[in-house]
Amino acid sequence: MRRRRRPRARAVKAWAGRFAAPTAPAVEAFTTSLPFDRRLYPHDVAGSVAHARALVRARLLTRREGARLERGLAAVERELDAGRFRFLPSDEDIHMAVERRLTELLGPLGGKLHTGRSRNDQVALDLRLWLRAECDGVDAAVAAVQRALTGLARRHRDALLPGYTHLQRAQPVLLAHHLLAYREMLARDRARFRDCRTRADELPLGAGALAGTGFPLDRKLVARRLGFSRVSANSIDAVADRDVAAEFLAAAAITAVHLSRLAEEIVLWATEEFGFVELPDAFATGSSMMPQKKNPDVAELVRGKTGRVIGALVALLTTLKGLPLAYNRDLQEDKPALFDAADTLRQCLDVLAAMLPRLRFRTARMAAAADGLLLATDLADLLVERGVPFRRAHEIVGGLVRHCLATATALRDLDAAVLRRHSAQLTPELVRRLTPAFSVARRRVTGGTAPREVRRQLARAVREDGR
Ligand code: ARG
Repeated sequence: MRRRRRPRARAVKAWAGRFAAPTAPAVEAFTTSLPFDRRLYPHDVAGSVAHARALVRARLLTRREGARLERGLAAVERELDAGRFRFLPSDEDIHMAVERRLTELLGPLGGKLHTGRSRNDQVALDLRLWLRAECDGVDAAVAAVQRALTGLARRHRDALLPGYTHLQRAQPVLLAHHLLAYREMLARDRARFRDCRTRADELPLGAGALAGTGFPLDRKLVARRLGFSRVSANSIDAVADRDVAAEFLAAAAITAVHLSRLAEEIVLWATEEFGFVELPDAFATGSSMMPQKKNPDVAELVRGKTGRVIGALVALLTTLKGLPLAYNRDLQEDKPALFDAADTLRQCLDVLAAMLPRLRFRTARMAAAADGLLLATDLADLLVERGVPFRRAHEIVGGLVRHCLATATALRDLDAAVLRRHSAQLTPELVRRLTPAFSVARRRVTGGTAPREVRRQLARAVREDGR
């Protein structure tokens, strides 16, 4: 006789007792979070091990049972690690999948693990464990981009760049100064992730579904085992809020915006019009039609993906804004936003850390572009040093600029007669001092673009980068 094919495996739901009919397959497909929350499994297992120990402590499990549960959880984790774990359509989420498999392996003992726990505090726990690790991971990835920026700044200590406001040439600056500006932004981003990590550093387990567990579980002990420094103070808050995830996304969105601005400058600088940077071939793409093209797609995608990261922040805040306390299933939507934003941000950070060191700056072109009318402010400042009120000096130099533009003359080349006509204080010796090097050297204030000051900034950056 032919053997009947086994029907597709389907486990009985943990909550099936109250229901007379099975869940519709369409509902299973609609409500599942497995496709995205399975990545939480190491945290889920770690949380369950700590919970099992608390159950032993509270004498809700014998030592032997506790040890068997731990071994069972380790076995489940190994299956997941090895990709051998078989998920079922009836597994609603990673938490149920782990427990279902644990029960298959251990029998009824598996059913004791969920004593005094709800998936609501369980998922809140997993999320905080994930966030804690992810903050560290992102921090390291941002640090790598910082190191790349520091490296570029070191390699181009003396290169001059036209600094822009309104994307109009404004004043000469050192390229290193410009690059270190991004490094500063990233330093604040790292501080935001560290801050988020301290907020995530709180154990929600013990909150139960919302009211707090009815068993005498030692929450402080669980916290210590999982490396948390605090336990949550309010069980309703512990399961209902996701502000720490929103904080992570806000930090991610701000970081992405910083990367996007850097990417936009790379796109601009790589144009023939600017011509300030040559992209490494390995980090550029060509055109399927136009043979001459070399496109900055990497930088463009860093800029483009920023939209997704910002979108994730907006999506989560929108999900949260109308929710009554405490847990609502809407909260499950936190994870796709969170994971996608984190992955996207990490991709952007990694690709920039790899590409930046290989950018070739056309420093001669940059320096040439940093000369000319960008020195007008310095001329006004020189007049101020000769006692002319700044507003008057501004007006005098404005008139000279008009003259230069009308006669296609450089400020430095204006002759004595023209200069005298504009101000008694102006001489050819004075205007001949106007060079980009002179301009930057004057800006010795803390944080200014003078070579000496930039060197000091750079030394601090090198120290902080730990090399
Ligand atoms: N998959 C759920 C989530 O991600 C886990 C919590 C489910 N809790 C519940 N009461 N249905 O939020």
